[in-house]
Amino acid sequence: MEVATGQGEDGQPGAESSERLQKVLARAGLGSRRACEDVISAGRVTVNGEIAALGRRVNVARDAVAVDGVRIGVFPGLVHYLLNKPRGVVTTADDPHGRPTVTQLVPDRPRVFPVGRLDADTEGLLLMTNDGELAQHLTHPSFGVEKEYLAQVEGVPGRAALRLLRNGVDLEDGPSAPAKVGVVGEARDGVLRIVVHEGRNRQVRRMCEAVGHPVRRLVRVRVGPIALRELEPGAWRVLSAKEVRLLEVAVKPGTSPLPSARPEEAASADRRSRRSARRQPPG
Ligand code: URA
Repeated sequence: MEVATGQGEDGQPGAESSERLQKVLARAGLGSRRACEDVISAGRVTVNGEIAALGRRVNVARDAVAVDGVRIGVFPGLVHYLLNKPRGVVTTADDPHGRPTVTQLVPDRPRVFPVGRLDADTEGLLLMTNDGELAQHLTHPSFGVEKEYLAQVEGVPGRAALRLLRNGVDLEDGPSAPAKVGVVGEARDGVLRIVVHEGRNRQVRRMCEAVGHPVRRLVRVRVGPIALRELEPGAWRVLSAKEVRLLEVAVKPGTSPLPSARPEEAASADRRSRRSARRQPPG
């Protein structure tokens, strides 16, 4: 992988640290260089807010690149993982109590950080990345990215409890925002699907407790457009370029998803990343 240090790709004087825009976009997973040239020619790419022309060069360490108004992470070496966090593992880099941590379950290089956090007792989807800007956007409340949980609760929540959960529950740090709440399967099983877009500490547990149905088991199954699907507890996989793009779009509402040119490129990148994830032992 090329890292922009000191000299441009063609070593021309004055081309320090710059690379051709189509090359940078292709490396970020937006398709072949040819497809990326089409996207640039169509005026869909901006560099530092200005529409880029074909032939434009960029410095990936300095320039802000966006496609269809959606920022794209172009720095080489950005990685994005999806981990199925098991119960009992803490969402920190180091635990003073010596408990297992999520960072021990993914490769240690490049160093990645969890996007938000799950309680030690909560299982399921945790994104981990070294893409600080994307992580910050995904966790910032102003973007309102949805988080979907399956909660096994005590007792059988009735209509009043469900209504409260949906409309907002009084919590010590203020009422919870309206949430989507549904019953999964038979009501007597006590399994709820809860979709929130806040990221408050132990929020789902506190909401359920407040309506008289404490959580016994909590699994996060989706963050924005990314769902957990089939992944063993403790296993992880690399997000495809398409999935990363969907996340980038999710934090910039009102814009289109993947550039439509050569969608097969994104699909083949997706297959490649799945193959590489299969080769990695989980944790
Ligand atoms: N809500 C909780 O109660 N716990 C989590 O880990 C995440 C959301």
